[in-house]
Amino acid sequence: MPKEHPHIVIAIDGPAASGKSSVARTLARKLRYVYVNTGAMYRAVTWLALEKGVPPLDAGRVQQLLHFTEMECGVRDGESTILLDGVDPTPHLVSEAVNGNVSAIASIPDVRRLLVKKQRAYAFDYDVVMEGRDIGSAVFPETPYKFYIDASAEVRALRRARQGLQDSITSRDKQDSTRRASPLIIAEDAHVIDSSNLTVEGVTGEIFGRLKQKGLPLGEL
Ligand code: CDP
Repeated sequence: MPKEHPHIVIAIDGPAASGKSSVARTLARKLRYVYVNTGAMYRAVTWLALEKGVPPLDAGRVQQLLHFTEMECGVRDGESTILLDGVDPTPHLVSEAVNGNVSAIASIPDVRRLLVKKQRAYAFDYDVVMEGRDIGSAVFPETPYKFYIDASAEVRALRRARQGLQDSITSRDKQDSTRRASPLIIAEDAHVIDSSNLTVEGVTGEIFGRLKQKGLPLGEL
């Protein structure tokens, strides 16, 4: 890793409901790295805009709102946390309103610039497993540990429905893949895993195998 990021970064990208959160969290716990959920950061900004009555499509007003909001990104119990003006938005992050507007917010270049800076800052202090859409392609293109987790559209829709959540994943995937700023792509050197017929343990097992092959010291894991 370059000098400015002396810590290990494992990047996990993929479309909505591909299973990347469960996999990233499991990996981080086993490795004792910090789990960073970058989707939660975009969701938090979306919640803030909706709460303050700022239209998610109005890039100028969203940017202004962020300018006047204090954002604290930290770590608690091995996982990333976020506070906006001292408020923890976690209970609101998977609401239907946030699901329906997060891709619009995430397509604003200034929002991405600010959040990517915060995401990179985690690797100054911690070894991390970071999940999102652009971690291997844009946030940490230099990390040798990149994974792209996919699953069929049917399996992904079923997974989200089983969580009891109203989520327009097809529309989010389309917006996330076609936006100009850091779209969801498979980084050239990412290892792709189709999780349609795999359990979380199956996917993490495959990732551990790959990390070992790449020479990452895994101890007894
Ligand atoms: O869990 P799920 O895959 O449904 O979504 P998420 O990871 O919580 O991400 C929510 C949304 O944030 C995505 O649909 C993207 O629009 C955006 N996002 C992004 O643009 N870049 C990231 N690194 C992470 C999320």
